[in-house]
Amino acid sequence: MTEEKEQVPHYDVYWQEEPYYYPSPGFVGQANCSDPDIFDRFTLDKFPECFREFADLLHWDKYWHTTFDSSDAPSWKWFVGGKLNACYNCVDRHLAQYRNKTAIHFVPESETARIEHITYQELYRRVNELAAVLRDDIGLKAGDRVTLHLPMTPELPITMLACARLGVIHSEVFAGFSGRACGDRIWDSESAVLITMDSYYFNGERLDHKIKADEAVETAIKQGQRVNKVLIWRRHPGTYSSPTPWVEGRDFFLDEMVRKRKGQLIEPVSMPAEEILFLMYTSGSTGRPKGCQHSIGGYLSYVAWMSRHVQDIHPEDVYWCMADIGWITGHSFIVYGPLALAASTVIFEGVSTYPDAGRPWRVAEELGVNIFHTSPIAIRALRKAGADEPEKYNYQFKHMTTVGEPIEPEVWRWYYHVVGKGRAVVVDTWWQTENGGVLCSTIPGIAPMKPGSTGPGVPGIHPVIFDDAGNEISPEDGKAGNICIRNPWPGSFQTIWKNREGYVKTYYERYCKNPESTDWRDWPYMTGDAALMAPDGYVRILGRIEDVIEVAGHRLGTNEIESGALNVSEVAEAAVVAVIDDDNKGYVPHLYISLRPGVAPSAALEDKISEAIVDGVGEIARPARIILVPDMPKTRSGKLMRRVLASISNYHDVGDVTTLDNPAIVETIRKQVQD
Ligand code: PRX
Repeated sequence: MTEEKEQVPHYDVYWQEEPYYYPSPGFVGQANCSDPDIFDRFTLDKFPECFREFADLLHWDKYWHTTFDSSDAPSWKWFVGGKLNACYNCVDRHLAQYRNKTAIHFVPESETARIEHITYQELYRRVNELAAVLRDDIGLKAGDRVTLHLPMTPELPITMLACARLGVIHSEVFAGFSGRACGDRIWDSESAVLITMDSYYFNGERLDHKIKADEAVETAIKQGQRVNKVLIWRRHPGTYSSPTPWVEGRDFFLDEMVRKRKGQLIEPVSMPAEEILFLMYTSGSTGRPKGCQHSIGGYLSYVAWMSRHVQDIHPEDVYWCMADIGWITGHSFIVYGPLALAASTVIFEGVSTYPDAGRPWRVAEELGVNIFHTSPIAIRALRKAGADEPEKYNYQFKHMTTVGEPIEPEVWRWYYHVVGKGRAVVVDTWWQTENGGVLCSTIPGIAPMKPGSTGPGVPGIHPVIFDDAGNEISPEDGKAGNICIRNPWPGSFQTIWKNREGYVKTYYERYCKNPESTDWRDWPYMTGDAALMAPDGYVRILGRIEDVIEVAGHRLGTNEIESGALNVSEVAEAAVVAVIDDDNKGYVPHLYISLRPGVAPSAALEDKISEAIVDGVGEIARPARIILVPDMPKTRSGKLMRRVLASISNYHDVGDVTTLDNPAIVETIRKQVQD
């Protein structure tokens, strides 16, 4: 067995584990979950009934008869026979106790504009009026798909909730995406209605957004999907502020339509738990976007439980997740999870570093935010642009989250000591669009944190690391491999919309023990990430399997090398890529670096970075070339685009980069490297 394992390639890991950080007694004392025995309730032998506890956080119109149905493996069904309404669970049921409590704090981008505080009562009224328009004026009904292309204003969650109230499936496309990208998703989801906004504020500018609606409709029509109606929220109700002309008979102002439905109440439609709540297209950078299909009962119960136990949200907290609702993080942890728990959730229209890197801390101070949730890319950007800003403001976080990419320990420590002022717990939550909610994290009231590692599987999630041949790698082996989840869970997507074959192939085929089986034990879920599990069960994510680089026969995770570079205080961001080395017929690493503002590039600094990597990882990872760039290519969802950098270093075509957050940087870097 040992021999067999050694023949199978694995990932080499050199990076040392970090020491634990412990939550303060004050945090533990108030935590929703401080019971260390919680994991006993979620051992594999208690699957699937252990998940009843998740569903019990919700109001059910009709209780389910079957907790888990695997007859259509691997499209799992949860809480079968149950009926509920997601909007009722996020709004109506809180009215008795929290009618006058803020549900949504809306922070417009302009600091001179007033922050809006929308109570649960007001949210209820606005959702009902919109549901009346959608049902009675537009004719939408349960099961129809509607594409939303809305920016970060309250109209976005209001629209999602109004759809959910009617059983209509929403498919929100990130507002920063082009009209064409939106049109492709309209076509794929077969939406006959598009809901958008005339304009919004971004980085100090007012952007014309309506223009994208016209492009989206045209793209969808070309592919055979007619869009009968475009419903337009106006950023400032009553004033149309887009230069793009209006199309008679197709375009309607939603703010005008809801005014006519003033005070109308719409009964929430009681939906089978297994029906679809929404589609969320993955932010995948290559190939056709995949519509992840999320259920009503399973998804909502999962995000409610995670919001309570991992985010530690109590109704009295002010909770700010600084993601965009156009991504799964926003769906789960700005809208559905927090609202299911009657929290006050912040919606921030702006960019975290505009007008300066103190903005998030001013918002936190003004609103009394005590739970803060963001991504490594935002943390790096705030550290780069204003490392000393947080201490200028008098806010007090009890809890902070990071999600979206591995976080380098050095960046983690800045987040913990400077942003959290050494008092807030940090949870590093690892999961994916497909998963609905968190897979690995510490439960903050019961487990210490470890910089650079996400936690163990959360209760109910049983991760396993396989090598390429399907052998399990034990935590004692100290080796990395492909991280999979042994068991299904309620928040997982049901399938890729209209593409079951792709669903099975991408996520299950590689490690499936028997494709004919309806036993869940035969269907581990493959995440596509490379990871290492330490003997304490904590998981370190090394990056996407496709980003792993092979140097002199060793397979190295990108995060490990980049983390070494980030130990150099002048470095703001690092990205490593594999470059074909013609002399040795193998690969060598190229390291791209962006420096903190005010730091001058020099050969000495490059040497220091190289040495830091050699120190952390070993000589094998010494970069063949270090390239200091003004900025990194990033996706709109905040991920470094190593693929683009690899193409530049390898003199390959960079492909379509128009959907990047900063496409212009690609040409700048290309010239720098190739000319
Ligand atoms: O590679 C992992 C990385 O992001 C991927 C999922 O991206 P997406 O579907 O856009 O969802 C992001 C928000 C849930 C994963 O396969 N990733 C996400 N969170 C972490 C992470 N990598 C390391 N640590 C994390 N905390």
